[in-house]
Amino acid sequence: MSQVNAWWPVALSHQLRNAPLACQLLGLPLVLFRDEGGRAAVLPDRCPHRFAPLSAGKVRDGQIECPYHGWRFAADGRCTRVPGTEQAACNKPLLDSVQSCEAHGLVWVSPGPERPQAPPVAPAPQQQNLDTFWITDQVQCSLQDAAENFLDGFHTHFVHAGWIRHDRQRQKLRVRVRALADGVEAVYSEEGKQSGLISHWFEGERGVSMGRFRLPGLAEIEYRDARGGVNLLVSAWMTPSGDGQLRLFARVATTRGVLPALLKRWVLRRLFGVILRQDRQILERVSANQRRFHRIPATPLDGPQDLLGPGIRQLLENGQPLVFAERELEIWL
Ligand code: FES
Ligand SMILES: [Fe+2]
Repeated sequence: MSQVNAWWPVALSHQLRNAPLACQLLGLPLVLFRDEGGRAAVLPDRCPHRFAPLSAGKVRDGQIECPYHGWRFAADGRCTRVPGTEQAACNKPLLDSVQSCEAHGLVWVSPGPERPQAPPVAPAPQQQNLDTFWITDQVQCSLQDAAENFLDGFHTHFVHAGWIRHDRQRQKLRVRVRALADGVEAVYSEEGKQSGLISHWFEGERGVSMGRFRLPGLAEIEYRDARGGVNLLVSAWMTPSGDGQLRLFARVATTRGVLPALLKRWVLRRLFGVILRQDRQILERVSANQRRFHRIPATPLDGPQDLLGPGIRQLLENGQPLVFAERELEIWL
């Protein structure tokens, strides 16, 4: 799977209403708007007349109107109005429309010329009714570094000391690492509750938990209770917008429980806000340090506890399924 011939999320569906939205995907500035049928439309964010950003314009009757001289463009890129002239609408598109679709609460874009064969990568299916909400963010780092960070338990004792785990309070557990058709997964068992505050406040008995990465850019963690029900499922879609920036769309799903959804959402949003800030800080420090050393290239050194990072790197570099035998090991997490 190439990065160009894949679906990437660029906005939350509910954010795209009757105003244009600017976004950037793999270095390409885009404008999103809804056409008269309510479908998401995507065009390059550059008016062909004098190159004004269309995202600064208005949506009128499902078409986008440039803020400079008011030229209007339909979803397919045809210019439908040139104010002040009698010029008839021309049939040839002046802008190349970009492939888009909506699924899983997100607007997806594929920058390539062909519609991708694989559908947008979906969150893990769940039988239960879950409370869900979204957290979005932007981080100056690579997809590889962010996906690994999200799925790596061994930084939590240091970057999130006390919040997720304590270094002085580790527990031994078993982990299986296996290849998926489009990714890689670690399954942790025999883990008790984590030593940090979050698990202490929010979790019942921990059963199995999973961390997985799927191409082109979904990192997901799933905590199950002792009976196999979901305690927490966080699906984080990561989109490289260009210039080393990464957009994050994280869907947080929790079991319907005693706490009212709104209150739980309020508390969890704040907690995840703290965790995300800590991760953003270390990831941006890593990126800045990579730039300081750009003249002396180096490959990252993997340790035995790097369960998913090497697989994620291979997947992103080759875009091919991984081939390796499932392995099982003991770790102190
Ligand atoms: S720049 Fe867009 S109408 Fe002139
Ligand atoms: Fe983290």
